[in-house]
Amino acid sequence: MNLLVTGGCGFIGSNFVRAMLEKYPAYTVINLDYLTYAGNLRNLEGLERHPKYHFVKGSICDRGAVSALVSKFAVDAIVNFAAETHVDRSISGSSVFVETNVGGTNTLLEVAKDHGIKRFVQVSTDEVYGSLGASGAFTESTPLHPNSPYAASKAAADLLVLAYHHTFGLPALITRCSNNYGPYQFPEKLIPLMIINALNDKPLPVYGDGLNVRDWLHVSDHCTAIDAVLHSGNVGEVYNVGGENEWKNIDIVRLLLSHVRKPETLITFVKDRPGHDRRYAIDAAKIGSKLGWKPSVKFEGGMRSTIEWYQQHESWWREIITGEYQDYYRKMYADR
Ligand code: NAD
Ligand code: TYD
Repeated sequence: MNLLVTGGCGFIGSNFVRAMLEKYPAYTVINLDYLTYAGNLRNLEGLERHPKYHFVKGSICDRGAVSALVSKFAVDAIVNFAAETHVDRSISGSSVFVETNVGGTNTLLEVAKDHGIKRFVQVSTDEVYGSLGASGAFTESTPLHPNSPYAASKAAADLLVLAYHHTFGLPALITRCSNNYGPYQFPEKLIPLMIINALNDKPLPVYGDGLNVRDWLHVSDHCTAIDAVLHSGNVGEVYNVGGENEWKNIDIVRLLLSHVRKPETLITFVKDRPGHDRRYAIDAAKIGSKLGWKPSVKFEGGMRSTIEWYQQHESWWREIITGEYQDYYRKMYADR
């Protein structure tokens, strides 16, 4: 199979590219990534000369470039990770989220239709369902109720994907996963940001009362779920992915402080995120029963190995947290 992975230089995409090359030695993997602030060639260091791996710098919004690439590599399947992904940035400015997440997905769909692509997997998020109260979990038939500009852009993309399946018979599928953690996650997201701040003895900025709940899944388990959907999912369908692993933000922060042996006095409660979703929880029964997927990484061990990864890859994150990141951090946290 000739597999086009978009956004392969980001957190989940880079983990997925490695997993595919390891598991399917006969596959050719083409990684199309625009290298935005979140894309990092170092995430795939060591693969530069891999005979089955090709990196192409370019945007999913560039129809001519995507079309040429699909022809050149005779692409059979597309897995679309490329996106703007950070909720707080979408609150600061939503345009690029609409351009990339909606416009870029639309471009990929047009090209996929024109070239008769055999499988199209859209990597979506549980955030399209909105926010839960104290009980219950999102199923695939929960109505879409996105609250942040990020979530709205992902929901719009999902609807386009389903419309392409319905209208043109495009063999498309959607995964909707809960929050991921693991190696190579950009330190704007909760877990890597808190690990790095703790390692640097800097304050840990917890939004609001710290009681918002997220359902955490190790990135390697998300990758096996996407693999299962890509190879065995029913076209036109949505598959929720989650770990039945709910944590309050404050408890995650306390857990990681105890791992790195830093004091809880580093915790600082800051002004809440506007429109902050209270709780996410995923019902992943469908992918379990239909495709036999289940998570394999236990949270305690997964967190320990993730923290160790950040401790052992200091040069990776030190390079990131200079320059532009400092400006971002000041803008986001200085007046909070
Ligand atoms: P990320 O921000 O780490 O990486 C995004 C990647 O997309 C970067 O490499 C970036 O350079 C690339 N990109 C951005 N715009 C592009 C464009 N126009 N053309 C080509 N490449 C472009 O994101 P992530 O956390 O790895 O998320 C990957 C996907 O998974 C996203 O679609 C996201 O919505 C979804 N998702 C993420 C999570 C999570 O917890 N991180 C959970 C569920 C779903
Ligand atoms: P995040 O990693 O941004 O993922 P998402 O908002 O997409 O779920 O945030 C996870 C949770 O952590 C969310 O409830 C917001 C909270 N949070 C903080 O309390 N402080 C922070 O500095 C960040 C980045 C997030």
